[in-house]
Amino acid sequence: MYLNKEEEKMYDGTYGDTVRKSMEILVALGDIYGAENLVNITSAQISGVSYKTIGDAGLEYLQDLAAGQGLNSNPITKVPSTLNPAGTDLDNWETLGFSSEFSKKQNEIVDAYGMLGISKTCTCTPYLVGNVPRFKDHVAWSESSAVAYVNSVIGARTNREGGPSALAASICGKTPMYGYHLEKNRKASLLVELEVPIKGIDYGALGYMVGKEVGDGVPYFIFKNESTNTELKSLGAALASSGAVALYHVENQTPEYNNAGKNELIEDSNNIFITASDIKNTFENLTNSSKNEADLVCLGCPHASLEEIKEIADIVVNKKIKNDLWVCTSINVKAASDRMGYTKIIESAGGHIVCDTCMVVAPIEDMGYETIGVNSAKAANYVPTMCGLDVIFDDAKNLIKFEP
Ligand code: F3S
Repeated sequence: MYLNKEEEKMYDGTYGDTVRKSMEILVALGDIYGAENLVNITSAQISGVSYKTIGDAGLEYLQDLAAGQGLNSNPITKVPSTLNPAGTDLDNWETLGFSSEFSKKQNEIVDAYGMLGISKTCTCTPYLVGNVPRFKDHVAWSESSAVAYVNSVIGARTNREGGPSALAASICGKTPMYGYHLEKNRKASLLVELEVPIKGIDYGALGYMVGKEVGDGVPYFIFKNESTNTELKSLGAALASSGAVALYHVENQTPEYNNAGKNELIEDSNNIFITASDIKNTFENLTNSSKNEADLVCLGCPHASLEEIKEIADIVVNKKIKNDLWVCTSINVKAASDRMGYTKIIESAGGHIVCDTCMVVAPIEDMGYETIGVNSAKAANYVPTMCGLDVIFDDAKNLIKFEP
């Protein structure tokens, strides 16, 4: 792979060990995937944050990296970078019932990232909190739902990075030029046409169904109706969880649909036609619990926007919730929710706005819950495998139960 003079210095260790190690990761990746050169990025989003998933080995790796840079020295990262959700609410872990041992380790992980210069904003919807690339920007993001959103809805360019490669890219300000960074790989690979209009959590069910079929393909959706950004957020998260979709197009809606090569696919035998009963069947398959009430209703996968929090506040206003309720979001969106009065409404009804974490990367299996209610197909897909718990997939208004 071609390196310019500055990149060669980074690779040789002129700028220290942390930069050298990071360049080694990027060059190795570039060689594996046949990249001809590196490309400058404008932002990074880094997974591998929850203590539940990276454990002590991950914590030590990050602390070594931060120490190699010299603690309290200038941040080493070259571009604005944010973190994926952590395993706890970093501030309110005690109120929510997280163990102190887990929370201590979790805060150490986030502190190590902070020492490297990465913002301690832990969210899978960084595009809602200021980490917003422009159309055609090259970035290095690793959370799969955020990758699908930033490629498809914003039209920036990223591969599905792993945590270490996104971190290396953040430190070097570069990523290898292959995959979805190249225009030729951004064409659609099949058409997905819907028979009926859909709304709300139907998008998650659709994404789950299509992701299973298309793997790492690039679906081009032809909807009967316009979709909101929240619906596209759910669609991409589900596509990326049952499959490995990193990019999709929506006719008349997403920024690159016009150049996606639809006409060449019209006769393609892989095209999919989705009926109303396909959606209904997928809906049913996403629930694996025989119970009709969840102990914990956990909303906000991907992390909730202010509009989604308002919708939940509207459901619970002046009522008392029977189940536990978590609404997962970023600390930034919660601040806006506090100011709008939505947090107070939800807390008065007995629910919580939970920051920095989510139902999949938090250790909810150790917190006494058995059945989790979710309105996200991605969460319904992961909670049984990642947490070993039963799940009910439904609309928020059906999942939340009230005291008489
Ligand atoms: Fe985000 Fe957790 Fe869902 S990281 S996409 S809320 S599984």
